[in-house]
Amino acid sequence: MNVEKIRKDFPILKRKDDGKQLIYFDNAATSLKPEAVLDEVVDYYSRYTANIHRGVHKLSQEASEKYEMAHRKVAKFINAKHDEIIFTRNATESFNLLMYGLYNQKYFSEGDEIIISAMEHHANIVPWQFLEKNAGVKLVYAELNEDFTLNMDDYREKISPKTKLVSMTHISNTVATITPIKEIGKIAKDAGALFAVDAAQSIPHMKLDVKDINADFLAFSGHKMLAPTGIGGLFGKKELLERLPPFMFGGDMILSVERHSSEWNDLPHKFEAGTPHIAGGIGLGAAVDYLSKIGMDEIRSHEKEILEYALDRVNGIEGITVYNPMDAEKQGGIVLFSAKEIEAHDLALALDESANVAIRSGMHCAEPLVSSLNPKGLDRASFYLYNTKEEVDVFAEQLEKIVKTLG
Ligand SMILES: Cc1ncc(COP(=O)(O)O)c(C=O)c1O
Repeated sequence: MNVEKIRKDFPILKRKDDGKQLIYFDNAATSLKPEAVLDEVVDYYSRYTANIHRGVHKLSQEASEKYEMAHRKVAKFINAKHDEIIFTRNATESFNLLMYGLYNQKYFSEGDEIIISAMEHHANIVPWQFLEKNAGVKLVYAELNEDFTLNMDDYREKISPKTKLVSMTHISNTVATITPIKEIGKIAKDAGALFAVDAAQSIPHMKLDVKDINADFLAFSGHKMLAPTGIGGLFGKKELLERLPPFMFGGDMILSVERHSSEWNDLPHKFEAGTPHIAGGIGLGAAVDYLSKIGMDEIRSHEKEILEYALDRVNGIEGITVYNPMDAEKQGGIVLFSAKEIEAHDLALALDESANVAIRSGMHCAEPLVSSLNPKGLDRASFYLYNTKEEVDVFAEQLEKIVKTLG
């Protein structure tokens, strides 16, 4: 993989502030966008802007075809069928679509249980809390081991005939643990539960096959995988999506409307009410093309190399504590850390101001876990295909200086 060549595809990487080159280590929050994606978006707006599925004119036909094609590209990318991919705004909306669908389907009864892990993002916690309040469902947490891996014994102990859904992260956005998602799914299925996966942090970084892991549902965000913001997706097995009631109602999601009743459209339209983010969807198609051309195995292996180097450098700094499995086989490209006596936001600000290094600080939308590790929040450096060891050097050297000065 030629990283220098890849870097040239990302116009923002030319950015300098006060003469200092931008070092972007906030990829778990959102990724940068390559020219190939930006061009597709501009092309839609400048050459064939139109609404989809509505007009018979050429522009509408072209836009509809491109938007449909994007569903097919995403489907192929994760080994799904094209009508099993619903475009949403983001992973958060995908989980809400699933939650409201199951709620409206009356899938849950009082006393049923949902198992998630202790390292979930709020997007895979808060929707289920709605069911705790409104459907009498109990939310059960599978705990972590000391090294931040998932405690599979705890998960096995907690699963029971009461478990109706297991909804688990594939890669944590904080401690970065890669969960044994296939095994988790098998245990869930053997217990008769539905199995949903939060793939927001895995789809952008590794090969993922929904059939192989036997996911019933899988949520992701386009903006973390080089696509524009405002576009994401939910995969669902066709037979399950056919049974799931829609959660948004209006145009495009219907086949026919009478004064007092309507008939739902085919998949995936049934779940895509109203004018969608057409440019975003087309941009997501271009992002998938871009990632596929480079190869997901190459991307994962590059990130592993950067991660190993970064873990080593950051962990070697006196006064820094790292909160990760510390093994590139067991985790994604994230270093979660804190510096003794320096607040998380102060450290992130100091890195930004002194060396133009962008990292994330705070609770990382995973407050139950992060606040238990440090009530004041943590810092997170997260990597992607365009990051280099030289960037890690600048970051680590600056981090060491800041810790010496402020700590
Ligand atoms: C693991 C995980 N799940 C879900 C989400 C939610 O993504 P979005 O904010 O795009 O809906 C994120 C975003 O950070 C995430 O990291």
